[in-house]
Amino acid sequence: MKTALVLNGPNLNLLGTREPAVYGSQTLADVKALCDQACASHGLTLDFRQSNHEGELIDWIHEAGRAQAAGTLAGVVLNAGAYTHTSIALHDAIKGAGVTLIELHISNVHAREAFRHHSYISPAAKAVMAGFGVQGYALAIAGLAGL
Ligand code: DQA
Repeated sequence: MKTALVLNGPNLNLLGTREPAVYGSQTLADVKALCDQACASHGLTLDFRQSNHEGELIDWIHEAGRAQAAGTLAGVVLNAGAYTHTSIALHDAIKGAGVTLIELHISNVHAREAFRHHSYISPAAKAVMAGFGVQGYALAIAGLAGL
């Protein structure tokens, strides 16, 4: 059984209390449970992580590239949070690792502030998901399973 690696970047540990009008009231633990269900129904094992540190996310993407090359990983779902809009290093990590990655956002970033309209992740991603709320995680896992 292959693994789906779901990575969450900065401030996503605050889900549930962070700007609920934008991100909803479900916690990161709720999102993990939702991802567990989605993985179970698509024959995948879930590996779910969160970090507020860019370098740790980069290390995890490198690890994912090695796991995918070894045939144990289906791919990555990444909500890079605000690093989406700032991190050339994450862009380079995804390309360098050669990993299949779906960029995910809970909110529709294109309907928000202009500084959220540009993504350094998108050019390195296989697909992009935004605006479905936390349900987008389940949709992204379904998409990964279908690739
Ligand atoms: C986010 C959107 C980003 O612009 C923001 O910085 C986040 C969360 C989302 O899930 O909608 O932290 O990635």
